[in-house]
Formats: sequence, C-alpha cells, structure tokens
Amino acid sequence: MIANMFFEPFIIEQICTNEINLIQLFSPQISNMGILKLLDRRFEVLLNSQIIIRRVKLLAKSINKDLRKDDPLFIVVLNGSFMFAAELLKWINFPCQVQFIKVSSYDGTQSSGRVQSILGLNQSIKDRNVIILEDIIDTGLTVDYLINTLILNEPLSIKICSLLLKPESLKVPIIPDYIGFEVGNYFLVGYGLDYNGYGRNLKNIYVEVEKTEI
Ligand code: IMP
Ligand code: MG
Repeated sequence: MIANMFFEPFIIEQICTNEINLIQLFSPQISNMGILKLLDRRFEVLLNSQIIIRRVKLLAKSINKDLRKDDPLFIVVLNGSFMFAAELLKWINFPCQVQFIKVSSYDGTQSSGRVQSILGLNQSIKDRNVIILEDIIDTGLTVDYLINTLILNEPLSIKICSLLLKPESLKVPIIPDYIGFEVGNYFLVGYGLDYNGYGRNLKNIYVEVEKTEI
C-alpha cells in the first residue's frame, strides 16, 4: 500500500478513525476546534466531504438519466469548479466531451458584477447540447453572461449544473437545471471556492464565522 511508504500502520489506523486528526495532519491551518483561518478571516465546516460527494453522485445520476442520448459537451467554469467537475465527471457513465473555460468576475468576498470575456472556448458549440458546470451561483451575473454569450454560437441547448446556489443573492432570474445545495447569503470557501486564492484545495466547504461568534 502506497500510504505505508509515508505512515506507520498504527498512524493510518488512528487517522482513519479520527477525522479531526486527519484534517489537522493535512491542513494545519485548521484548529482543534474545527476553525479554519485563511488570511484575516475565520471559517467553520458547513458541508463535509462525504455529504458533498454523496450529493455530487446524485447529480451525476440525474445527468446520466437525462442526457445520455444528447452527446453533451460539459463546459467547466474555472477556477472554482475544478474540484466539483472532477468529482462529477468521474460518475458520468456515457461518452462525453469536456471543455474548460474561464470567466473573470470576482474579487475578494463581494461579487464585482463585472464580467469580462470567456477564455478557452476553442471548440464549436453549434448544434451541441451544452451543460455548464459551475461551483456557485451568487448574483447569477456570470451564468447569465455565459448563457447570453454562448447562445450566439447557436448551441442546440444550454443546461446549468451548479454545486451551490445562493437564491437570496440572485440579481437575475437564473433557474439551474441541476443544483447541489441551496445556501444562504454567506461567504464560502473550500472544494474549489477561494478567498483571495486560498482555500480551493480543501475537501470540505466552509462558511465564514461572524466575528462576534469567536
Ligand atoms: P456570480 O456571478 O455572482 O453568480 O458569481 C460568480 C463567481 O463568484 C462564482 O462562480 C464563484 O467563483 C464566485 N463566488 C460567488 N460566491 C462565492 C463565495 O461565497 N465564495 C467564493 N467564491 C464565490
Ligand atoms: Mg465559478
């Protein structure tokens, strides 16, 4: 077993039975109270990795059922969606194509609302059934821009699959076809989501702790 090259067996046993130990071993920035510190902000677990993965598998199951005859083109919106897309696409059980694009529109903890351009779409989507994979829909402006821009290239259909949706933050009426979790209007990090570039690698999703709570 590869893990044995790095850990004594008794340590493996200990970390497998103790999630906090495991988290602390790999993410020393998380305190034994489960508080994650990133730059000047503090976060606590909102959704743990088992819950996320279970939900992502269910989304894949629905997509397998609905789109298997559509030869869909998955469009992954980087950077935030990398972990979600990697997990979801593992469970897609029919041949499909995957394209990675980038739309820069977010800075710090508040959506700027300014969306510039789509980078990396180097494949024709004409007459294709497109499914956009997003990490989170906050104001909805990014997805709205994407739909309005992609539609100019005459796809057959465009579907939206987002791991997270903040319904109270929407500034445009976006109704995703597939949603992992609806969340409140809080700032989240982990599982691809970042705070000033940090936190994307974390396997759980964390919510910012109010300053008065600590
Ligand atoms: P929207 O255009 O406001 O819907 O959001 C666009 C992008 O902002 C998302 O795809 C995320 O990359 C980012 N974003 C929105 N909310 C959060 C958050 O709570 N944490 C980290 N990134 C976020
Ligand atoms: Mg995103």
